[in-house]
Amino acid sequence: MPSATSILSVRDLHVTFSTPRGPLYAVQGISFDLGEGETMGLVGESGSGKSTLALGILRLLPLNGKWTAKSISVMGQDVVSMSERDLNSAVRWTKLAYVPQASQNALDPLYRVGDQFVETVAAHAKVEREDVLKKAGTLLEQVGVDPAKLQSYPWELSGGQKQRVMIAMALILEPKIVILDEPTTALDTIIQAQILELFKQMRSFQKLSSIFISHDISVISNIADRVGVMYAGSLVEMASVSDIFKNPIHPYTQGLRESVPDVRKNKPISFIPGTPPDMVNPPPGCRFHPRCPYVQEVCKKSDPPLLPYPGDHYAACHFAERWVKQ
Ligand SMILES: Nc1ncnc2c1ncn2[C@@H]1O[C@H](COP(=O)(O)OP(=O)(O)OP(=O)(O)O)[C@@H](O)[C@H]1O
Ligand SMILES: [Mg+2]
Repeated sequence: MPSATSILSVRDLHVTFSTPRGPLYAVQGISFDLGEGETMGLVGESGSGKSTLALGILRLLPLNGKWTAKSISVMGQDVVSMSERDLNSAVRWTKLAYVPQASQNALDPLYRVGDQFVETVAAHAKVEREDVLKKAGTLLEQVGVDPAKLQSYPWELSGGQKQRVMIAMALILEPKIVILDEPTTALDTIIQAQILELFKQMRSFQKLSSIFISHDISVISNIADRVGVMYAGSLVEMASVSDIFKNPIHPYTQGLRESVPDVRKNKPISFIPGTPPDMVNPPPGCRFHPRCPYVQEVCKKSDPPLLPYPGDHYAACHFAERWVKQ
């Protein structure tokens, strides 16, 4: 998926975890480009590999995770062969920041919030403590947290405040790209709406490019320009938000869309029947075939590649042509 102004480009990323049952194929050959200033939403059921994709790009996988990729280019620089040290000093946080899933728990309860900002910066750049605290205060204000909280311990903050602190912390070294992993999950709907609003503002202040991960397609529709849909470790569809909603090609995306309740139309909620596959023993052929209402013989044997269709729309389905709007 080439993009003239690609700021992050991933080619053929695979991640495998070793488990007592054998290798678990969590990410299976993902390629995409993130455009400059673009917000790409990443959706998919629990276990589809969204977090693993983010951790693979950043090379922050747990010890039992192994990755390979043809290339991962961050602002034009290939990081695949970069040493851990160079990656830390020149890429992570400074160019590409990550707000991990359940990040409200990532703050250390023993240290004041301000000290954690100072620590984060000190690991990547030489900046005076007072300057870090001043900037952290400004960022906290922007995310709607009283800068006085820099003096607080994390346990004195609410879940929503901690989540905002983590977003502010990810932005302190002025990265150009940020990956946010489920930043609104586990927050109540009012705080969730506030965080989405805040993120939209931050995005325009800081001219950020971002990947916004969520299993909630309605959150993604609110925030993203383009959407990548993951199923069982692969990208099965990628298109603009409006195409994903109005003209989904992949039967899995069609099912995801149907599972969003529509209060205005009083439409009943439908769910995709079946369960996600076991990624130690994934089904042969198209991994969605056991749950696909349109399954044919070919789907059980051959894995369809992600192919381009008109309108910068990509899908991996043997019968994509059926749903392509000309
Ligand atoms: N450290 C690990 N060891 C073994 N398997 C793992 C490990 N981390 C993740 N997995 C497996 O990899 C697959 C992808 O997990 P991942 O956490 O990326 O999914 P996800 O899409 O982020 O799900 P969620 O929406 O629940 O956050 C799952 O099958 C998961 O069980
Ligand atoms: Mg996850």
